[in-house]
Order: sequence, then C-alpha cells, then structure tokens
Amino acid sequence: MRLPVSFLLMLSLLVLSPPGYAADPVRARQGMVVSNDLIASRVGVEVLRQGGNAVDAAIAVGLALAVTYPAAGNVGGGGFMLIRLADGATTFIDFREKAPASATRDMYRTVRNPEAIRSDYQGQQMRMALSESIVGWRAPGVPGTVRGLEMASRNYGKLPWKQVVTPAVLLARDGFEVHFNLAESLKNSTRLLGRFPETKRVFLRDENFYQPGETFQQPDLAAVLQRVADQGSKGFYEGETARLIAKAMQENGGEITLEDLKNYHAVERKPLETTYNGHHIFTAPPPSSGGVGIVQMLGMLEGSGYQEGGFNAASTWHYVAEVMRRYYADRSEYLADPDFYAVPLERLLDKRYLAARRATIARDKASTSEEILPGKAAGYESMETTHYSVVDAAGNAVAVTYTLNGSYGSGVTVPGTGILLNNEMDDFATKPGEPNMFGLVQGEANKVEPGKRPLSSMTPTIVTKDGKLRMVVGSPGGGRIINAVFQAILNVVDFQMNAQDAVDAPRIHHQWQPDKLYVQEGVSPDTRVLLKAMGHDVTPSSYIGRLQAIVVREDGWLEGGSNSIPHGGAVGY
Ligand code: DON
Repeated sequence: MRLPVSFLLMLSLLVLSPPGYAADPVRARQGMVVSNDLIASRVGVEVLRQGGNAVDAAIAVGLALAVTYPAAGNVGGGGFMLIRLADGATTFIDFREKAPASATRDMYRTVRNPEAIRSDYQGQQMRMALSESIVGWRAPGVPGTVRGLEMASRNYGKLPWKQVVTPAVLLARDGFEVHFNLAESLKNSTRLLGRFPETKRVFLRDENFYQPGETFQQPDLAAVLQRVADQGSKGFYEGETARLIAKAMQENGGEITLEDLKNYHAVERKPLETTYNGHHIFTAPPPSSGGVGIVQMLGMLEGSGYQEGGFNAASTWHYVAEVMRRYYADRSEYLADPDFYAVPLERLLDKRYLAARRATIARDKASTSEEILPGKAAGYESMETTHYSVVDAAGNAVAVTYTLNGSYGSGVTVPGTGILLNNEMDDFATKPGEPNMFGLVQGEANKVEPGKRPLSSMTPTIVTKDGKLRMVVGSPGGGRIINAVFQAILNVVDFQMNAQDAVDAPRIHHQWQPDKLYVQEGVSPDTRVLLKAMGHDVTPSSYIGRLQAIVVREDGWLEGGSNSIPHGGAVGY
C-alpha cells in the first residue's frame, strides 16, 4: 500500500516535533539573563551592555535580587556559582554558609516544646515554627554571599567591583516598584516576619503592608551595599556591618561573632562532570548533593531506553522515578561537606556502580524504598531559594543558586542593616534521624561541626555539546531542586524541547523516603492510573522547583525559559 506524501509528512512531524506547551521562550542573539525577578534580570543585561562579562552580570544580578527579592535574594545567606568560560575552562565558587565556631553537634537537640515532636502534620508545622535551627537568632550560618561574589569578580570579572555593585545600591536607596507577588509574599509571611521587631519594621512597615505599585526603599541595606561597593567584602565582614551583626547576635542569644565573620572565606572547587547522550554536563560538587544526583541519575538512565514511550508516558515516568529513588537513598547516607567528611565520590559516580543500580529497576513494577535502603521521613516544601542563569556575547556562562534556605530565612533582620539572615543551620542533620524542613533524613556525615558547611541540594548546572554551550540551568526547591534540574536536562537532551517548554513541562519527584511519587498537574489522570497499577503511591504536588534556564540552539540563538513569569523571567539583547 502506498501512503500519500502528505500523510507521511504529517506522521514525521508528529514523531519529530517535541511536545509543545503554552509559551515561547524569550530569544536573543547576544546575551541573556533569566532570574526570578525582572528588575534583576534587566540589571544583568545592562551590565552586559556596559561591556561586563557573564560573571560581572551574575554579581550584579545577585546583589539586585538581595534588594528586590528579599525572600531568597540575599547578602545574609550563601550559595554556589558555576562558571564555564567561552574557552572551556570551568570552576565552581562555593560560598555556602558555615557553622559558627561555637556550633556543636547537639546544639539543637533540646526540644523545648514537646508538641514539636509530634509526628503528624500539625506537629511538624509546630516543629518548624519552634525549632531554633529554623527560626530566630540561632538559625543562621555565617553568610557567604558577599565573599563569594567578590571572589568571582576578582578571579573572573572584567568590570571594576564598584560598577557591578552600584545598581543594587541604587535599587535599595531609591527604591523599586512593588509587584503583586512581592506584596502578597510579604503579607503572607507575617507569622514569621512579624515576630522580630526590626523585620516587622523594614519588611511589613509595621503591618501597614506594602501594596502593589508602591515604592519600597531600604536605606539601611543601601548603606551596607555602599560599604561593600567602597571596601569590597571587608565592608560586610569587618567594620560597621560586622559590628552591627555581631552586636545583634550577642544581644539576642545568637552564635555568630566578629571572628566568625572575619574568618569566613569562599572556596573554589572543581565541578563534577559527566557525559550523557552526546552531551557533557558540568554540575555542583559537594557540599552540594545535587551534582552527585545529576551524575548518578543520568548514568542510570543512559542506554536504558527509558524514553521509548515518549515524554509524559507512564513507562517513562516510572523509570525516571526509579532512578530518583536510588539516588536519594545514597544521598541520605554518603554526602556532606568534603572538608569534614570523606565523601566516597569515586564509588558513587562510577559508571559500573550505576549500571548495577540500573539492573535492579524493573520496567513495569515499582520497587519499594525499603528494599533499596531503610529509612523514614515526612515530606515538606519551602518555597524560597533562587536560581539565575547568565550567558554573554562571548559565550561565557554562569549558573548561580543562592539562598536564605526558607522563605525570608530565619526571619531575623540585623537592626540598622536591612540584612535578613539565613536559617541554613537546618540543612545540617540537626537531629539525626528526624527529617529536616524538606523531609530529608540525613546522617552523621552531615552533623553540625564548627566551621562546617551544611549539605545542600542546590544544583547549578551547565551542559555543552561538541564543546559548545548548550544549556545553563538551576532551580530552588530544597530537596526537589535536583530532580527539577535533572528533568530540565532530559527535556532538552532527550525530548528536544525549547527553553520555555523544558521548564513548563510537568515534572515528577521521588526522594526515596517517603515512598511517594509526587506528580504535577500535567501528568494526566490516565497516566496516574497506570503508575498506580505499577505500584507507585501517586501523590499530586504543585511545586517541584522553579526553573530558570538558558538553552543555546544549534544556530546560535539563545532561548530563555523561566518558571517565574510574569514577575520574573528572561531578558535578552
Ligand atoms: O541548600 C539547600 O539545599 C537548601 N537550603 C535550599 C532551600 C530551598 O531551595 C528552598 N526553596 N525552595
């Protein structure tokens, strides 16, 4: 039988065209910034236009977000910056917070309110509200952001430091227009922010809440940023700013001292690397757990034919969920700050080990997490941390994920500085065996120790093909970050999606414990039935990360894709 040409053409389009979702990506020829806040993205592009490279733009975006996105943008937190220069050189700047020198393994073990140890949902909520590793003056680790950005500027930037810091000074001093989401977010956070007088004054205007369209000025933060512009990181870690932080800590029972601040240093590490389906992946090494996850999960998928049923097919999700389960089992045991714990990286990343893990996956039947490794945890989500991606005209690429940990961190603002401090101490195994804020159980390797960095899930990642930049990506989402980034990579590499489709496409999440398969709305009811029939405990979930991606097409065009439209997104030039 001869089929008409038009039919064959249609069939080939069906087979070849990637699944499409709602929106087009932003496209640009020269440079692109994608972040959770449009003002910050514009600041980044302006720095590129002034002749700055992607590193300069990334520094300016990071500091602008500290002003315009107080829930996660920060100078009082920490994070990771992954850099790939146009000549192929790569590096990873670790500016993760550190435990203060006075920190001890059991510093959070005393549960002051017995209600907080109830294991039901309400009890867990209470634990979060009361735990000293989550709320208040004992929750922050020593901030790393300003040191990290300064290191990036000194080692890889082009423009003078002052020039890249100044846009943030102006945003804080002159103010910016509050958008709907920011107004809502501040108001909805009254329970946390209203507890601390300075936070209440600065961010809630003493409950005369900021309305959309109003101007938000932060003069104290502007003064801090001006000192940072003038003196470099000394303007934060020494002198007036440090004095104010240490004084507030002392007055409120906090742990961070002048010495802790002065002694904080960022560190450059070698990114993790792997190959996958003709692509090269650069990603985050420990103290992030994320890169190990990306390398392990891609390694388990490669050559499996997992995608034969197509994107969004039950068989595809099943296989993806099974590799997630296996990685998260390892995560709970083997990962921590490499300066304190000998992470068995070689074994964890060994392709033969991953092949052996793959061999335990059945095509049509869910494993149980008990048979992979024992453990128990409840599931939690917090919404804030932030990622942004930058590419410049020369092809330099930067991926930054940084955070206060929870939304608005510990809730405390250092009086006279406008600086919100992180609650990163909760990323340690503060009470071994109990789940942290993200429902992740962690072991002794990640116990609290003075000067140590808590294990992170932040996973800034860069993908190349044939030596050319292909993708820059990352996400917030606590323990879900790793799976969000993982699926964005699959969407581009295996399902040929554009940047916006790759972030819009529905995602799933499995973290070994609890033994649940979280699925987003776009996974159809029929598919859920099939997954249940395979033995998965299918659980609806709306939030599985918030991706900010740049994809470079074969023809050189840059595509920006963002989960943060309309208040955030891609700006190109
Ligand atoms: O480093 C980490 O893994 C966490 N502190 C990240 C927190 C986070 O992503 C919260 N936001 N959704």
